[in-house]
Amino acid sequence: MTVTAAGSRHIVLTGATGQIASLMVTHLAPRHRLTLTSRTPRPTGQRSGIRHVTCDYGDVDSVVDAFRGADAVFVVTNDPTRPEHDRNIVRAAGRASVGHIVKLSAAAVRDAAAHDLITEWQRTNEDRIKSSGIPWTMIQPRSFMSHALAWASSIRGSGTTYALHPHSRNACIAPEDVAEVSARVLGDSRHHFRSYELTGPQSLSAHEQSAVLAEVLGRPLTCRELSREEAHATYARRYSPVMADALLESAERQLAGAKAFTTDTVGRLTGRPATTFAQWATGHKDRFE
Ligand SMILES: NC(=O)c1ccc[n+]([C@@H]2O[C@H](COP(=O)([O-])OP(=O)(O)OC[C@H]3O[C@@H](n4cnc5c(N)ncnc54)[C@H](OP(=O)(O)O)[C@@H]3O)[C@@H](O)[C@H]2O)c1
Repeated sequence: MTVTAAGSRHIVLTGATGQIASLMVTHLAPRHRLTLTSRTPRPTGQRSGIRHVTCDYGDVDSVVDAFRGADAVFVVTNDPTRPEHDRNIVRAAGRASVGHIVKLSAAAVRDAAAHDLITEWQRTNEDRIKSSGIPWTMIQPRSFMSHALAWASSIRGSGTTYALHPHSRNACIAPEDVAEVSARVLGDSRHHFRSYELTGPQSLSAHEQSAVLAEVLGRPLTCRELSREEAHATYARRYSPVMADALLESAERQLAGAKAFTTDTVGRLTGRPATTFAQWATGHKDRFE
């Protein structure tokens, strides 16, 4: 069956309380019936055509129940130490006869030199989906611009930002752009069996991002260089120790220039230019004030 962008479909967004899937709802809700999933309940208000179902990737039956009747599923997982989550999702998609899997993966999977835990996990996840027999689309973004939100309290408190290798560049992307591209491809057979590498329109270092934020906020900011030990401790406050190790490895690839190139994929798929860091920072200015 050929499914094009025109029809209304039943779409499941996993990770609905997370960053990307939550931004997809407004793109999809007017046309499609939506099922949102996460472990924690999320009120959907009175919006017709949207329901929230709790499920846990550790419990395959709960995922099958959430996926039942879905034309397309947007897959978000976030724990490389729990590979059974990703296995269960593919198993559940098969049992529920899902018509299309759109997987939130990562740009690093394309880099033959990237072997950190997170990248290897995403590669394995992609391979498993590609072997499932279910039509797929891979969304492969570079780092999200929203990582800058980690600076919000130090910007407010002392006018500082911080980074390991503060002059190394990353073609980071607005989460809003990742969400719009993902929403556009869901359930659309023109995007079956394709992988989309998504970046922002320019490559910026932490130092340069700080300068942009200073301009947007109208006050000076200082970008401080972290040692490897300080960076690891910073990552470990938000993530598990093995994830912190992987992020350190990833920072070394950034220093080597592996994340500096840009793609035109956002523009090709949305028909508008990708969001700049200055635009993203302006849109989120209140979070830093
Ligand atoms: N951050 C980056 O720069 C970046 C760049 C490229 C790719 N990525 C990829 O993006 C993905 C993360 O996307 P995101 O930031 O939108 O996610 P996120 O904000 O981390 O949210 C994760 C979502 O998954 C749900 N979830 C977690 N464990 C679950 C479980 N066991 N069962 C059911 N639901 C569960 C969470 O809801 P509950 O906790 O309520 O269950 C939440 O809704 C990762 O795969 C990452 O590799 C990130």
